[in-house]
Amino acid sequence: MNIAIFASGAGTNALKILQDETLQPFIQCIVTNKPQAGVVQIAKQFTKQVIVINKDSFFNTNQALHQLQHLQIEFVVLAGFLWKMPESFVKAFPNKIINIHPALLPKFGGKGMYGMYVHQAVVANNETETGITIHYVNEHYDEGQIIAQHKCIVDKNDTAETVSKKVQQLEHRYFVEVVKQLVVNHN
Ligand code: GRF
Repeated sequence: MNIAIFASGAGTNALKILQDETLQPFIQCIVTNKPQAGVVQIAKQFTKQVIVINKDSFFNTNQALHQLQHLQIEFVVLAGFLWKMPESFVKAFPNKIINIHPALLPKFGGKGMYGMYVHQAVVANNETETGITIHYVNEHYDEGQIIAQHKCIVDKNDTAETVSKKVQQLEHRYFVEVVKQLVVNHN
């Protein structure tokens, strides 16, 4: 299954996927709305095509969708991509778009809950555990069916910064495995 990775951040999760020898050949392109994002350099390092999208055309035309269809993309991985997916995408890739969220959904999800905001909220709420959620994507933020969750402990001395490190370790360990299961086992 040909894969597109949507990412607009540092790209550490995209990097893990690209470093995986099984998955790498399936990755056809990196889609981003931030041409300066770290993930773009990573894509270049792996000689993967970068597709830059802008909000107006993404939400009001089918241009990006057509580009992916032209590349025969069948599976979409959101790895640090903050925009909601347009309905046309969700319809075109039913149960074939997944996202990773740095908390245990349904807690700490929704609009504005991304990056350090998530971990700050976890600490402010005196949570004793947090983790990651890998889920299917629908038209609503962070609400699609959950595929996998992994937890870590939050203790009294933790700050948003230390929590983010623990969560990132879980992301780097488990995301690749889930993508592999969903993609490779279906070829
Ligand atoms: C990760 O924390 C992921 O859970 C969230 O966005 C972040 C992306 O980080 N959806 P990176 O760009 O892969 O380093």
